[in-house]
Amino acid sequence: MATTGKTGAQEAAADNASQAPATVLVIHGPNLNLLGQREPEIYGRTRLADIDRSLKQLGRELGLKVETFQSNSEGAIVDRIQRARGSARVLVINPAAYTHTSVAIRDAITACELPTVEVHLSNVYAREPFRHHSTIAGIVVGRIMGFGAEGYLLALRAAKRLIEAEHAAAEA
Ligand code: DQA
Repeated sequence: MATTGKTGAQEAAADNASQAPATVLVIHGPNLNLLGQREPEIYGRTRLADIDRSLKQLGRELGLKVETFQSNSEGAIVDRIQRARGSARVLVINPAAYTHTSVAIRDAITACELPTVEVHLSNVYAREPFRHHSTIAGIVVGRIMGFGAEGYLLALRAAKRLIEAEHAAAEA
């Protein structure tokens, strides 16, 4: 295979710059399928389907294609991140409980070479100490937490900025 010296993400950037809208992959970790019913005093009353709908709507407004994925399984999340390599431009992820434990998800994010935004509905630092550690905090571009469902929309706007910055850098 010919090598261009570009990373997978840079290749995807080049492809997407020419034609199709850039893809942002949004991954929701375990138990987030229960949003709206699960501990609403912490996580709010918005259901995951409503979050995904809002993300796709905002994506259309920003000229982005938004793909969403939820799984309760660590391996399925790793598989989905691997599939995004070379096709998505930015990863937005709330790894939920795996945030605090998963080296596998961290390694998958590193391997896929996608700029990543970490999202949490709650402010994890205002909660139990075991939630204060994130295995991915050191490899993501930035972290958004404490704004409930709105945090995902803020993350999508951040993703748009990252894509614009990549375009500007590619043209410079
Ligand atoms: C969470 C915070 C995690 O500690 C927790 O395990 C979750 C959700 C959040 O979005 O606030 O499931 O990631």
